Amino acid sequence: MSDTVLLHYEEQGTGQPVVLLHGYPLDHTIWRAQMAALSDSFRVIAPDLRGHGQSPAPAGEYPMETLAADVSALLDRLGIAQAVWVGHSMGGYVALAALRTMPERVAGLVLCASHPFADPPDKAQARRDNARRALAEGTAAVVSGMLASLFKPGTNLESIPAHRVRTIMLSTPVQGVAGVLSGMAARPDSVDLLRAPVPPKALIAGRDDQIIRLTELQALTAQIPHLSLRVIDDAGHLPMIEQPDATTAALRDVLSYWKR
Ligand code: MLT
Repeated sequence: MSDTVLLHYEEQGTGQPVVLLHGYPLDHTIWRAQMAALSDSFRVIAPDLRGHGQSPAPAGEYPMETLAADVSALLDRLGIAQAVWVGHSMGGYVALAALRTMPERVAGLVLCASHPFADPPDKAQARRDNARRALAEGTAAVVSGMLASLFKPGTNLESIPAHRVRTIMLSTPVQGVAGVLSGMAARPDSVDLLRAPVPPKALIAGRDDQIIRLTELQALTAQIPHLSLRVIDDAGHLPMIEQPDATTAALRDVLSYWKR
């Protein structure tokens, strides 16, 4: 595809390909613990999405489908036809966009601290306003205030993990921040995509997530019986960093379906 960008990525292990996608405004290093652990059984690929980490950050809006097309182009480069797409938060929106636009590339889908709902109009408008603000005032102006909400309530924001996350957030190029804020605002509702039992799909959530409420995910799994939900205790929106071992165990449990 001509408008895709060459993503920076890390790869480890052999076996069923598993793509780990980070959320906004983060990078692939949030998955460091899971990548090291799961590479004993899987070929784990963790890219920096367009506009994040060390990947290119062109100007303009980044629809979730475009981010998915970049990942698909990476899979082409690696000779991979189909992968399990594991998406954290915005990475989950990207995985859903892949399922919508290129289902043949999706062996399975795991949403981690993510959900399939579109933004309500006020949230979409706030994102578009923040995209403009980022371009005018810089990354820090829109991301600095997010740190506390990413962790479970009461987290020491001077701790090493919080410091690490703050550094990643503040390093996100402003074009990336603006691009994905506009792209997330435009994404459609994807609940219907979760209703089909194939390919297999699962949810993993932090019990104390302040951004994506557990009760909404519980209501969803009550409606869609084949959609499993694994809850990570003592974790907020970043279970892979707040509770790395429990998150790895939950992923290993879900991914055992594809283990050869
Ligand atoms: C993320 O962590 O990717 C974002 O919080 C997702 C969102 O803002 O909807």
